[in-house]
Amino acid sequence: MNKVILRKTEEIENWRRNINSEINFIPTMGNLHNGHIKLISTAKNDNSNVNLVSIFINPLQFDNKLDLEHYPKTIDDDIKISFSNGADVIFIPNNEDIYPPNKNIKLLKAPIDLSSALCGSNRIGHFDGVCTVVYRLINLIKPKNLYLGEKDWQQLLILKNLILRKKLNVAIKSIPTQRDFDGIPLSSRNVHLSKNERELIRFFSSELLKAKKNFQQEKRINLDEIIKKLSAKKISIEYLEHLHPHTLQKARLEDNISLLAGAIRCGETRLIDHVFLMKRRPIIAIDGPAGSGKSTVTKLIAKKLKLLYLDTGAMYRALSWLMIKESIDYKKEKKLQNILKDISIVFKSNTNSHQEVYINNYCVTEEIRSQKISSIVSKISSIKEVRNFLVEEQRKIGESGGLVAEGRDIGTTVFPHAELKIFLTASIDERAKRRQSDNNSKDSQEIDLNTLKELIKKRDFEDSNREISPLTKANDAIEIITDGYTINEVVNKIIDLYNDKIPKETEIK
Ligand code: PAF
Repeated sequence: MNKVILRKTEEIENWRRNINSEINFIPTMGNLHNGHIKLISTAKNDNSNVNLVSIFINPLQFDNKLDLEHYPKTIDDDIKISFSNGADVIFIPNNEDIYPPNKNIKLLKAPIDLSSALCGSNRIGHFDGVCTVVYRLINLIKPKNLYLGEKDWQQLLILKNLILRKKLNVAIKSIPTQRDFDGIPLSSRNVHLSKNERELIRFFSSELLKAKKNFQQEKRINLDEIIKKLSAKKISIEYLEHLHPHTLQKARLEDNISLLAGAIRCGETRLIDHVFLMKRRPIIAIDGPAGSGKSTVTKLIAKKLKLLYLDTGAMYRALSWLMIKESIDYKKEKKLQNILKDISIVFKSNTNSHQEVYINNYCVTEEIRSQKISSIVSKISSIKEVRNFLVEEQRKIGESGGLVAEGRDIGTTVFPHAELKIFLTASIDERAKRRQSDNNSKDSQEIDLNTLKELIKKRDFEDSNREISPLTKANDAIEIITDGYTINEVVNKIIDLYNDKIPKETEIK
């Protein structure tokens, strides 16, 4: 595609009419650095959409005239950097194009709860200005994806909220904060720093990164201690807060992921930095009835997000296998408890990266899928002792997080604090059709559709009405009805939900 520079709003409209591709949009205020380059190159590598970079220093988001005047302007370099890193089109409007005096562009307000926290308390009107310009740009460009940096985490939350509020059909894609060689976050304002000021911000960032490391071990944070250390270096702190990463309210004890964010002043320059504190890596819980597509979807998600795949059903099946093999009478409670004590179930990846299930060192991956096991697993999984034992085992596997688990009670019982809970389901008609066309289940192919529907209804009833851990949707689970969707569409939807909740930065060690 020819590289294009557009300056007028009419040019954007004409250009858009003549392309037959979706648009990735990377809004910037110029003075591009490696953080912007990462945004542009991520967009380029994500898909084959057209990449449009805008360069516009938005006066509405500056509460200080001098700050606006001094904002670094490097347009010739910005054009070169954008094109050489994957931009196809650069939009460089001026003030009159974005805010035409005769058009009376509506000024937007950012939501009070998100915009009054952190930077909002000192930068009055800043986020209103950001919302106004981004809304205007989105309406002109009509992108499919909007690429933003997590460096401005509060801005990212406010823009996500804007997209929801205005019902815009745009997906936000974020990238982690990009740091310079000395650990300080890349920012256009860094050019204003003297050597001494740079040293101070380096100290500030390194204290945040240290706090993140300590938190992994100690699961607690002492804000006063950090403030004392910063003050001893005569660093002028505007704020340093420990908050919930999405609501920006005070962090609670039960929050697995929280935000430690601060702003300091170095001479005339104000700089922000943050880290995410994590007790363990994230967990996705996927529950749902038989035939909803859980296993296929969960396996693919684990692969794409590089998470451990915890197939809790396989654990119940493995236990059922052992009961048959060792002729254990599972109705005898006392004996059962003694037997359970000596059982170990582990998952291991084989050379083809397929997950194998072992029970007491027997590899049972294939055998547990037999009809014989299918016919008793439901009974065995409704025994209280079995349930308690396996839930504990599952929690042990999930202690440090980093997994996606599927089952029927994951979000309600096993991991009630999972970061993302999905309830995957499909209509009875759809599930019966899927079972009939399932090549692995020969018996189902021979049963007529109406009988299959009745069997599914019966299984749903049993699963949802059993005494222990019945199949129910957790209050905070997102229900996805998979009728009419391809597997990939469902997987991508869940990955989008995950990316929306979990900062990309949490993936960085
Ligand atoms: O983050 C920025 O550079 C700006 O706030 C943005 C999103 C380009 C809007 O002017």
